[in-house]
Amino acid sequence: MRPEHITLRNNSLTARAHGIVSDVNPRKLRGAIVGCGYFGQIQLEAWRRMDCAEIIAACDADIARATASAEHAYTDPLEMLTRHKLDFVDIATRPDTHLSLVQLCVDNGLPVIVQKPMAPNLAEASEMLRLAQTTGIPVMVHENWRWQPWHREMKLRLDAGVIGKPFGYHFTMMNNDGLGPSPYPNQPYFSAMPKLLIFESLVHPVDLTRFYFGEIRKVFAVKRRRNPLIAGEDRALLVLSHDGDVDGVVEGQRYLQPEPPGPAMGHSLIEGELGRLVTLANGDLLLNGHLIWQNQTTLGYKGDSVRATQEHFISCLNEGKEFESSAARYFGTFAAVDAAYLSADQERALAPQV
Ligand SMILES: NC(=O)c1ccc[n+]([C@@H]2O[C@H](COP(=O)([O-])OP(=O)(O)OC[C@H]3O[C@@H](n4cnc5c(N)ncnc54)[C@H](O)[C@@H]3O)[C@@H](O)[C@H]2O)c1
Repeated sequence: MRPEHITLRNNSLTARAHGIVSDVNPRKLRGAIVGCGYFGQIQLEAWRRMDCAEIIAACDADIARATASAEHAYTDPLEMLTRHKLDFVDIATRPDTHLSLVQLCVDNGLPVIVQKPMAPNLAEASEMLRLAQTTGIPVMVHENWRWQPWHREMKLRLDAGVIGKPFGYHFTMMNNDGLGPSPYPNQPYFSAMPKLLIFESLVHPVDLTRFYFGEIRKVFAVKRRRNPLIAGEDRALLVLSHDGDVDGVVEGQRYLQPEPPGPAMGHSLIEGELGRLVTLANGDLLLNGHLIWQNQTTLGYKGDSVRATQEHFISCLNEGKEFESSAARYFGTFAAVDAAYLSADQERALAPQV
């Protein structure tokens, strides 16, 4: 099916800096979710507060989770897709299942939003990209960090030239949940993942660097494991070079809270020829040390960024526009993460395979 054939009826949504808000009442789109675990619940809570869409059915391998999540509950995604007339599917399972579930949605002509990381490896992420490109069915990766309101605000200032031409950055991401005998209480399965911090967490600031500075040309990475009870890395440093002559560092660990603590889980510092922009972990934005925007969002996940991501998805479906994080546009983020692991193993800088 080509994109214009699945363009939905209403063109009345208008984009605003922080997401997409409707000015008249569009038809409510009907969706289904696959995966009702830790993050699926966060997505469901955001869907429930949205006027433009509703989740009418839920699927989880654990039927109790599906039953608690929507009016109609399934353990078999195909059965769910064939029993209901849907406008879209939201996939919130872990990466191993993403490709097969996206394939199922695409085979049924259904637009899909799928959680990051796209896939467990570059081959499956490439196959997902190929599926999206050859069928024309809209496939969006759920990347909510670029929808955190402080990042939308900082991008507006950067694009307006308040610090002139950017040349460097330092983005951090951290939490104090990775040490001790029971690390990662929200997602205990993290302990068994051979690729952990860069793959699961630093993928967010890596995507932010592309949001701010464009394509990544080169990656050099180092990684370590401090907690001996986990399989993957829990500390990493990435040096990234971008097309527009910007270089920067993405740094992360799961031992300490940021100072001050807050939903952004670290700071984002951008340096330009005329000054510095900094977003603190609490979401406040500084220009050359002076507070210029204060985070006052208390609702939802990290500045209500999940809701903003989902609103963007629905708005693009309604307007027939490409998502900011369509499979095609997001692939460079996945490829940079993949290159970071190869770089750390080979101890040399590498270009992402895009
Ligand atoms: N964007 C973010 O900020 C963010 C934060 C946390 C997690 N995530 C992502 O969300 C995804 C899910 O992570 P999680 O921590 O919620 O995992 P989870 O294990 O808590 O939940 C996954 C759920 O999917 C179900 N499931 C698995 N395979 C299934 C299948 N084939 N059919 C039906 N149900 C199936 C499981 O039973 C489970 O309930 C991951 O890709 C993770 O990286 C994103």
